[in-house]
Amino acid sequence: MVAENMDELVSLCKRRGFIYQTNEIYGGLQGLYDYGPLGVELKNNLKSSWWSSMVYERDDVEGLDSSILTHPHVLKYSGHEETFTDPLVDCKDCKSRWRADHIKDNLCPSCGSENLTEPRPFNLMFKTNVGPVDDGSNFAYLRPETAQQIFTNFKNVIDSTSRVLPFGIAQIGKAFRNEITPRNFIFRVREFEQMELEFFVEPGTDEDWHEKWVEKRIEWWENQGISKENIQIIDVPKKDLSHYSKKTIDIMYKFPHGVEELEGIANRTDFDIGSHTRHQKDFQIDSKVIKNEDSVTKLAIQNKKTNDWVIPFVIEPSAGVDRGVLAILNESYRIEKFDDGRERTVLALKPHLSPIKAAVIPLKRNNDEIVEKALDIKRMLQSLKLGRVLLDNSGNIGKSYRRHDEVGTPMCITVDFQSLDDDTITVRDRDTMEQVRISCDEAPNYFQKNLL
Ligand code: GAP
Repeated sequence: MVAENMDELVSLCKRRGFIYQTNEIYGGLQGLYDYGPLGVELKNNLKSSWWSSMVYERDDVEGLDSSILTHPHVLKYSGHEETFTDPLVDCKDCKSRWRADHIKDNLCPSCGSENLTEPRPFNLMFKTNVGPVDDGSNFAYLRPETAQQIFTNFKNVIDSTSRVLPFGIAQIGKAFRNEITPRNFIFRVREFEQMELEFFVEPGTDEDWHEKWVEKRIEWWENQGISKENIQIIDVPKKDLSHYSKKTIDIMYKFPHGVEELEGIANRTDFDIGSHTRHQKDFQIDSKVIKNEDSVTKLAIQNKKTNDWVIPFVIEPSAGVDRGVLAILNESYRIEKFDDGRERTVLALKPHLSPIKAAVIPLKRNNDEIVEKALDIKRMLQSLKLGRVLLDNSGNIGKSYRRHDEVGTPMCITVDFQSLDDDTITVRDRDTMEQVRISCDEAPNYFQKNLL
């Protein structure tokens, strides 16, 4: 089961500390959200799962963490200055602004007026001033995708790791887009995170690699709990391809507001690194054009056998962290109704994604011995390094169970008087609500087995 509408998820996220609107006390900033105590854990768990699958579990990928501020030349020669635009339409009556593709029947979605401007291109990149002089020339862009910093570090990475083709560079980090109409909670925002891999391959092998990456990425989303029936795979029509792409497959997800892109897997050819190599010689540094081609950093790799320089093709699986979080919340949300009229809300998250792995609940909050025992168990489980284990000493076990069901805690552990006598604890399973009694000695193995 999934959420019936976005409002249910928005309300749960705020109530339980997953996601808040940024600067809400001042009325909020549109298209920006903050991740609260549980949201940050869920998001970090999703990112670690991606990093494990992309970097640790492979032998052909290196990691990178690059700057957000980006040299304007990078985004000029990547084509973003010219083409990273959305068509913008103004309503001359109510002064609202819209993406042209969000206008239906030539009417302003806000006031219904027909008095609209012709669409004109609006560049989505944010600019900022670098250094103390604000004369318009010392600016940098906030990166609109993490990918370009991977391309500009291509040579640094091969020189420092001796990689040969095929290999990839993975990065997780913030990207910024001045979206005209941010909407649908964290689906379309102005500041978000991407998990991107640029996988460099011999030209001619690119189409095979593209297919392999599409399969691999669908499998990964399924391992995060996304069900097959909520996924659609789209071969992006030629007219909608980004300027750098020869072919893009989008993994679409059935979000509460409709079916939209979760991840794109593009064949970027040699567009980016080819362009960054060709254009370096045009650099203006201190107003002098550098003519010497030897100073150009060739973003190419030498074939060790033939000594030929190859500009690799790039396959790019690019996923949004925030859209991933939204899809996973939607997928795991359910309301269970019981015959006696009671109901419970459950977030049936995969354990590796759960913000809290286990809650240790002392049956009597004021009994020092029980609380001390619960604290020992919390410390023992925390030392397994499976993620956050919480001592929940709120005093009402029924309410604690309900709260932990709702935030996706896979196990609740109760420490009671019997625990003091025979060194046992009760473990309650979130999904089945079944309880088992196990000895404290067994606990580490039990948790490792059930939480990994
Ligand atoms: N480097 C390729 C690239 O940036 P994209 O399709 O524009 O391609 C990749 O973005 C992913 O980033 C999307 O599939 C989506 O998950 C996420 N994304 C893009 N724009 C977003 C936005 N405004 N808010 C949240 N996520 C966004």
